[in-house]
Amino acid sequence: MDIDFWLERWDRGETGFHQQHINPYLGYYYGELGPPPEKRAGFRVFVPLCGKSRDLWWLQQSGYDVVGVEFSELAVEQFVAGEPLDFKKTDRNGHDSYKTDRLEILVADFFDLQEQDIGNITDIYDRASLIALPVDMRRRYVEKITALQPPGTRTLLITLTYPDREMEGPPFSVTEEEVKDLYSGDYRIEKLAAKNVLEDEPRFKQRGLTSLTETAYKLTRIR
Ligand SMILES: C[S@@+](CC[C@H](N)C(=O)[O-])C[C@H]1O[C@@H](n2cnc3c(N)ncnc32)[C@H](O)[C@@H]1O
Repeated sequence: MDIDFWLERWDRGETGFHQQHINPYLGYYYGELGPPPEKRAGFRVFVPLCGKSRDLWWLQQSGYDVVGVEFSELAVEQFVAGEPLDFKKTDRNGHDSYKTDRLEILVADFFDLQEQDIGNITDIYDRASLIALPVDMRRRYVEKITALQPPGTRTLLITLTYPDREMEGPPFSVTEEEVKDLYSGDYRIEKLAAKNVLEDEPRFKQRGLTSLTETAYKLTRIR
């Protein structure tokens, strides 16, 4: 799966993954269970493969410092046009960057990023990023994201799991075993919640799924 696949999806408006609502796990773990609002500016949340997710806006409005990366400039332009924030387009280390108070979105290939592009991150929010990639790219993704974060960084990872043979991704099914395999060694892995979401996702039911589980993990880089 290459970048052109995603660029074509954005061109054709095939963005069924985009959600109008704020992700409930994000709202819970970074809202109610998060640090007190006055301390949040000390937390810098990296959002890889961010699309035009409204979660970027929620994190910024909730007081966090946020940096996202998205390859499709169309996606970023749609985000910028859709939120009542004043963005400036600049250049950051050769990448186009859309920046406003406490929120920056880089237009870049995630696999080309360097640590200095995203700054001193403390947290990562991965919704529909790992699961957007086929199995052979997921290990590369984890190697790259590990290289971009210092020890101590926390990740809120949200996956989907379904019977593989029933649907062709994306989104791809990622099991708990695979999460443990991909992240073991460098991370402490905590399973936070798992929920059957098939009834909430009619588009996947129509594609033939008989079960669909959404799982949230907290990953902490320990070395
Ligand atoms: C399934 S969407 C998820 C978007 C977002 N996380 C959300 O929750 O709405 C995956 C996004 O990753 C972007 N993408 C795919 N490969 C990428 C790469 N190598 N670098 C940057 N963005 C990429 C696609 O353009 C697409 O917007």
